[in-house]
Amino acid sequence: MKINIRKESPDDYLSVFNLVERAFRDEKYSDHQEHFLVERLRASKAFVPGLSLVYVLEKKIVGYILLTEINIKNSEDEIGSLALAPVAVLPEFQGKGIGGELIEAAHQSARDLGYQSVVLLGHDKYYPRFGYRLADKFGISLPFDVPKENCMVIELQPNALKHVHGDVVYPKEFYQ
Ligand SMILES: CC(C)(COP(=O)(O)OP(=O)(O)OC[C@H]1O[C@@H](n2cnc3c(N)ncnc32)[C@H](O)[C@@H]1OP(=O)(O)O)[C@@H](O)C(=O)NCCC(=O)NCCS
Repeated sequence: MKINIRKESPDDYLSVFNLVERAFRDEKYSDHQEHFLVERLRASKAFVPGLSLVYVLEKKIVGYILLTEINIKNSEDEIGSLALAPVAVLPEFQGKGIGGELIEAAHQSARDLGYQSVVLLGHDKYYPRFGYRLADKFGISLPFDVPKENCMVIELQPNALKHVHGDVVYPKEFYQ
């Protein structure tokens, strides 16, 4: 893993809380509650400690990413996957590649743990550069009333989603 990126520890929780709040404060497509979402997810069964990562610059946490467990369900099957939510970088450190490094590092950690795919709701111009494609193309639907361009998935292994389709089921903590 990159030298600036490490697993989050409990000592980081307050810094991460403040960072996520600030990162989303002026975001148009945000409910400005993402810092509370992180707290709920950390306490949920969906939490994977190795997939909660911080980016540190001169001892200061300037970026954060969280992947948590979800399922993709159809009438026959329920397949495990991950949700990327959120990724956040302090405003004064944005545009320097930190978000991208966090995304790549989280993908690698997820691969190392044996996960096959990641689902997200996000900016259609940003995530394709990391390999995300439209969920719709895989027959995967997200339970949100948003344009399909914003619903994306990535295969962490070749063809990981070839036989996977259905509805993404998020843990209840996403909705509170
Ligand atoms: C999205 C975010 C994590 C990206 O982190 P970053 O370190 O600034 O990203 P990088 O430096 O790796 O990449 C910068 C690119 O992201 C693009 N980008 C950043 N925010 C964007 C947004 N809201 N919409 C579209 N593109 C965006 C920039 O335009 C830039 O593109 P370019 O390389 O073509 O110029 C960061 O901007 C952030 O924290 N935003 C607020 C929180 C948020 O919206 N999180 C994502 C939703 S979960």
